[in-house]
Amino acid sequence: MFERRGQQWFVEDVCAAEIAQRVGTPAYVYSSAHFSSRYRALVSALAGVNHRIFYSVKANSNLSVLRLFRELGAGFDIVSAGELERALAAGATPGDIVFSGVGKRVDEIDYALKLGIHCFNVESADELARLSERARLLGRRARMALRINPDIDARTHPYISTGLKENKFGVPIQAAAALYARAHADEHLDVEGIDCHIGSQIAEVTPLIQALDAMLALRRELQNAGIPVRHLDLGGGLGIAYQNEADFDVTAYGNALRDRLRGEDVAVAMEPGRFLVGNGGALLTRVEYLKPALLADAPSFAIVDAAMTELIRPALYSAWHDVLALEPCDAQPASWDIVGPVCESGDFLARGRRLALRQGTLLAVLSAGAYGFVQSSNYNSRPRPPEVLVEGDTFRVIRRRETLQDLLAPERECL
Ligand code: LLP
Repeated sequence: MFERRGQQWFVEDVCAAEIAQRVGTPAYVYSSAHFSSRYRALVSALAGVNHRIFYSVKANSNLSVLRLFRELGAGFDIVSAGELERALAAGATPGDIVFSGVGKRVDEIDYALKLGIHCFNVESADELARLSERARLLGRRARMALRINPDIDARTHPYISTGLKENKFGVPIQAAAALYARAHADEHLDVEGIDCHIGSQIAEVTPLIQALDAMLALRRELQNAGIPVRHLDLGGGLGIAYQNEADFDVTAYGNALRDRLRGEDVAVAMEPGRFLVGNGGALLTRVEYLKPALLADAPSFAIVDAAMTELIRPALYSAWHDVLALEPCDAQPASWDIVGPVCESGDFLARGRRLALRQGTLLAVLSAGAYGFVQSSNYNSRPRPPEVLVEGDTFRVIRRRETLQDLLAPERECL
């Protein structure tokens, strides 16, 4: 996402230091060209596959980012009324929306039913019964898919693996046919598809294709029982390179899909999040203090103005994010732990990085476009940073920095 030109680093045609100067730090910066090119790369890898992309809003739910993907032709995968509201605010029509998640509340189901969204991805027998009941009460029919849990190992971090039987997601594939029979017989439900999402940050094509094979076998079983299935939703999960991993091979994925789906009269839906936005975002932060180690075997700390509150992935998953120093510096490179001001020893962004740092040095924590801002918090009463979108040689703030007044408002009115 960053390109070096002389002594400066650029995002598209904008100097990163200038963004930091104008909006302050910490700040998230996104490249619209990067987002669009990832979307186009996925679409072209899927050429010849009857497909529809539903961008997974949870990865980066900024309204301007959603609008960009809508303009590129994406629908949206949502998991809450809040995400539904965002998709609509970004200009999505209800027919562009699929609703995932294990714990949909009655009010959320009602909201989506009244709008007439494209599909509910149902995750349990209880939810199926609730969906039918709410549709009956509202005089609607609910289009639905059952999220199956195929017990396939996505070989990713245990916290973001979702397709194993020990995970809370979906219904065991063995139990799916009986539930589909129930749904098919229900006058308030329309069976649309089969859904599956086995995990996130998946590096290889194989587990995703194993899941597809399980869905195709189930589809055959359902078709034989007289239950038509119009689409297979393969979920998201396509991984990105954070360090020196290979990017997920979308071309190989597209080839495998074309191969498996030849002669099958079925559409494919996909719910990518991270693949589209992960590498296209960074967190800008400045060094507040340097604490070089005073004792043997102790780390040297660079305390920066961003923290786990802005990027919790290192603390939560021991995730590795690259760190770039964006300004030339006359200091000797040394090994630094990049840590925030939050009162937790788990508050680190990176450890043991060789960087030349001074007080005030501007840094970029890379690959923060997905699950960065959306997982931020106000812990330690820290206002959330702004988000900035670069478009060619211009940039604009797409979410303003929170103020101290913003932080206190919901409580002040209750005093
Ligand atoms: N569809 C469903 C039903 C999902 O649960 C998810 C992600 C996606 C699609 C999009 O997955 P993606 O293409 O982005 O991998 N906070 C974690 C990631 C959690 C993913 C949750 N579900 C992280 O920072 O790595």
